Amino acid sequence: MNRIELIRALPKAELHVHIEGTFEPELMFAIAQRNQIEIPYKSVEELKQAYNFHNLQSFLDIYYAGANVLVHEQDFYDLAWAYFEKCAEDKVVHTEIFFDPQTHTDRGIAFETVFNGLKRACTDAQVKLGISAELIMCFLRHLSEEAAFETLAQALPFKDQIIAVGLDSSELGHPPAKFERVFAKAREEGFLVVAHAGEEGPAEYVWEALDLLKVNRVDHGVRSEEDPKLLERLIAEKMPLTVCPLSNLKLCVVDDMAEHNIQRLLQQGVHVTVNSDDPSYFGGYMNDNFIAIAESLDLSNAELKKLAKNSFEASFITDVEKQKWMQQIDALA
Ligand code: ADE
Ligand code: ZN
Repeated sequence: MNRIELIRALPKAELHVHIEGTFEPELMFAIAQRNQIEIPYKSVEELKQAYNFHNLQSFLDIYYAGANVLVHEQDFYDLAWAYFEKCAEDKVVHTEIFFDPQTHTDRGIAFETVFNGLKRACTDAQVKLGISAELIMCFLRHLSEEAAFETLAQALPFKDQIIAVGLDSSELGHPPAKFERVFAKAREEGFLVVAHAGEEGPAEYVWEALDLLKVNRVDHGVRSEEDPKLLERLIAEKMPLTVCPLSNLKLCVVDDMAEHNIQRLLQQGVHVTVNSDDPSYFGGYMNDNFIAIAESLDLSNAELKKLAKNSFEASFITDVEKQKWMQQIDALA
């Protein structure tokens, strides 16, 4: 099997995707129209031309604006369902999806409206496509600790259906330490925990995510490479990093895919995985991310298989399920 065939054939788990970041312009226009909400772009083409980012914040401004057209439970269902169809095309058989309730509740949309739409799509993904899906609720780190506590309280009635809490949005100036207490409470309530750290922020934020938030995975974490002691710790603890190559390129975390550190991290023994982050905005879903790094970094078939295996190992599925996917990957040529 050649490299591209192998990428397509490998079963994969996606562990870092923001559902609001899968919002394709065509669906955004359709939902805006049915909800009679104006968007400040005349056409899909004009909107796509605005997808020209120079850092995380320049992306987030457009990403939050796009999410404003989501109002009804069916809108959230349609958003998630469109993503599951992409998963099916890319052989993503398991996914752990971030959602940002505050982006919606701050506009007067009920938490339940968001949650019920997403959850119903997850159930249908299992039944109709055989894709397993979990939800991870993220706190927006540019908002206050108090607002995060309120969001956690809103999630408690659904806590058996939300596998983890996470932390996203503007990283610089909003270190993990700001959310130490709310993460402690979330862990007490039984949630697993993850956090974006070391995307634009320094290695110090990754230390905080580990020591203060006690995360089960680090989202991005690519700047950990700047701190050899931190790398040693990540390797010793088999701490997964959910790396997002096309995102890093589009947000200028790296200047060129040929300079991306995912292969160096993998070869040093860091538990890296491949993910799409905000695929509608960054130029591709799971397989596009795999193909981009495979070609730019000349990844071997063995490295591609290792990355796919890492995705299941780092996921929150059972050990029995993990073994099943490992065997399927091993069986591929
Ligand atoms: N929200 C959506 N995408 C994000 C990213 N790449 N980093 C931080 N917050 C985000
Ligand atoms: Zn992200």
